[in-house]
Amino acid sequence: MEKDKFLFNSDEEFEFFIGHTQAYVNMQNEISKVVKFAHPEYLIEFGSGSGQTSIRLAKENPRTSIVAVDLREKMTGIGKDKSKKNRIKNVTFVNGDLTKLDNYNLKNCNLVLLAYSFKYIQDPIETKFEFLSNLYKRMQKGAYLVIGDTFIDPKAPKAEIRQKIQDRYYDSSKDAFWNNLNGLTDEDVKYALEAQALNREHTAEQVERGVNRDGVYYVSREWLRESAEKIGFKVVLGERLDSLSDMLFVMVK
Ligand SMILES: C[S@@+](CC[C@H](N)C(=O)[O-])C[C@H]1O[C@@H](n2cnc3c(N)ncnc32)[C@H](O)[C@@H]1O
Repeated sequence: MEKDKFLFNSDEEFEFFIGHTQAYVNMQNEISKVVKFAHPEYLIEFGSGSGQTSIRLAKENPRTSIVAVDLREKMTGIGKDKSKKNRIKNVTFVNGDLTKLDNYNLKNCNLVLLAYSFKYIQDPIETKFEFLSNLYKRMQKGAYLVIGDTFIDPKAPKAEIRQKIQDRYYDSSKDAFWNNLNGLTDEDVKYALEAQALNREHTAEQVERGVNRDGVYYVSREWLRESAEKIGFKVVLGERLDSLSDMLFVMVK
C-alpha cells in the first residue's frame, strides 16, 4: 500500500472531508479546551496532517510553541504554507515518524498530542504499548499526553467491527452534509451533496481497512486505559465524545 494513500486519496479530499465531520469538530473543540486549561509552553503534535488542529491551537495559544510532526511531506508542506500565509509564527511543521521518538526532544515538552493518529501505529498491538512506554520514559513529570481517536475492540466479531466502523462513517457523512449546508441556494446544496458522496465513497474503503487491519489498527478504549495505567500514566480524563466510539483521553506523567 502506498504510504501517501493510506488515509485519503488527495490532500484536497482530506481537507474537504474530515474537517467537516461533526466527530472531528467535537474532538478539536475538546482538545482546544484541554490545551487552554493546561496552557503548555511547548506542545508537540504527532500525526498533525495538514495542521488543522495545530494551527488552531497556535492561534488560540500565542504563548505556546508548537511542533507539528507528520510522516507525509505533502501534509507538512500544506501546514507550512498555511501558517506562513496566516502569519502564525508559533507552529513549526516537521516531517518525521512518530514511532522514532529518539528524533524528538520531549524533555521540555508539556503536552504531547495525538489526534486521530494513534490508530495508525502499526500492528502488532505491542508496538503501540512500546510507543506509549517510550513516550512515558522521555516525557517530563507533570506533562500531559492527550490522545483523541476512534476506538473499536479489535477482538470483537468481524461483523460487529464492520458495523461499528460503518456507523462511524455514515454518521460523518450526515454531519458533513449538514455542516456544508450554509444556506439553501442551489450552490450550497450542490456542495453539500458532493461532500456527502465523497464520504460515502470513503466509507466502504475505510470499513474494509479497519476490519482487515490494513493501514488502520484500532484498539479498544479499555486497552488504552489499562496499558497507560500499567506504564505509569495517570488517566485524568477518558470521556466519550459521541455515541459510537470517538473518545478523548487526557493522561499525566
Ligand atoms: C487523521 S490524520 C490526523 C489529523 C490531525 N491530527 C488533525 O487533527 O487535523 C492522521 C495523520 O497521521 C499521520 N501518520 C500516520 N502514521 C504516522 C507516523 N508513523 N508518523 C507520523 N505521522 C503519521 C498521517 O500521515 C496522517 O496525516
